[in-house]
Amino acid sequence: MYKLFFRLVFRRMDPERAHHLAFRWIRLAVRVPVLRTFLAAALAPRYKELRTEALGLRMHGPFGLAAGFDKNAVAIDGMSMLGFDHVEIGTVTGEAQPGNPKKRLFRLVADRALINRMGFNNDGSLAVAARLASRTPVFRTVVGVNIGKTKVVPEEEAAGDYVKSAERLAPHADYLVVNVSSPNTPGLRNLQATEALRPLLSGVREAADRAVPGRRVPLLVKIAPDLADEDVDAVADLAVELGLDGIIATNTTIAREGLGLKSEPSLVKETGGLSGAPLKARSLEVLRRLYARVGDRITLVGVGGIEDAEDAWQRILAGATLIQGYSAFIYQGPFWARTIHKGLAARLRTSPYATLADAVGADVRKPA
Ligand SMILES: Cc1cc2nc3c(=O)[nH]c(=O)nc-3n(C[C@H](O)[C@H](O)[C@H](O)COP(=O)(O)O)c2cc1C
Repeated sequence: MYKLFFRLVFRRMDPERAHHLAFRWIRLAVRVPVLRTFLAAALAPRYKELRTEALGLRMHGPFGLAAGFDKNAVAIDGMSMLGFDHVEIGTVTGEAQPGNPKKRLFRLVADRALINRMGFNNDGSLAVAARLASRTPVFRTVVGVNIGKTKVVPEEEAAGDYVKSAERLAPHADYLVVNVSSPNTPGLRNLQATEALRPLLSGVREAADRAVPGRRVPLLVKIAPDLADEDVDAVADLAVELGLDGIIATNTTIAREGLGLKSEPSLVKETGGLSGAPLKARSLEVLRRLYARVGDRITLVGVGGIEDAEDAWQRILAGATLIQGYSAFIYQGPFWARTIHKGLAARLRTSPYATLADAVGADVRKPA
């Protein structure tokens, strides 16, 4: 049904316009009590075996919405209604900014992929903090807040910009993510180098503790799939050293591998981050590498190219406690999160593992 609708309506529209339209419908639906209660009851994860604890938070299921979809925290309840068990808002930057000029989002339908160069278009940390503070949640959803650098702030002053966002947003976050991996802010990904990352993460940690004295807000870092393997290891070691709570792997890629040569060459040539199916293999590889390095000392969040329950299950076996998705939601529609949770529960039942936690990293722990 959705696939037909996508072909007939969304596919003919500019991708960003289609996004805003779908967004508006989701926000409208959540304002109708009967509809939202019905949808939430039908789509929320309700499988006992999928209940999980991660980052000190109790979750009904491992699958959540990746950052970038709800940049300004305006649709948390709507996304929760659609069955995403956690919603990561952002990326929010210190100051509001318009992002890159349009057109900046491209669908590579034949490859089940997207290319985006949005450039952190968002309302800024002050406005988003105010919105979160005044929010009356309809559903109890875990809310992650993903922060990044304001474009005009020079790279050497990046830490101050992140600290500003952390101070404002940590009080409203169930967990906080330092995004140093989006390809669309010049210089951002250089912050993944450990000499830049160490002071940045320490500064954000201190800022979060200052802003929320009674609660230790879990802190995670989100990394790029384009890091060399040794750099993935270096970030993993640094995360352990600094007592970070988690690593999210991965963001979009600047590589163009994995494209089945099906999409129009002019689209493939667009600059920006590639997400969706072609990212699957590398995201999984990075996750495995991280788990081999950090084991259970740090919570790993698997994201990148997840399309179905089997993909999600592979991420769990590779070491992810939580999983996220974005691109396949565009192609698969409103029942996607439910399909993933339902399939995962079925997969777990036929596996040798009693709980999801037992399955985490099982493929990596296995003797070769
Ligand atoms: C249009 C678009 C915008 C995105 N914006 C952000 C962002 O602001 N911050 C971020 O950390 N990741 C952002 N991402 C990356 C996703 O969170 C995710 O890491 C990536 O798309 C891989 O997952 P997927 O293959 O399921 O889409 C964005 C992705 C897309 C497609």
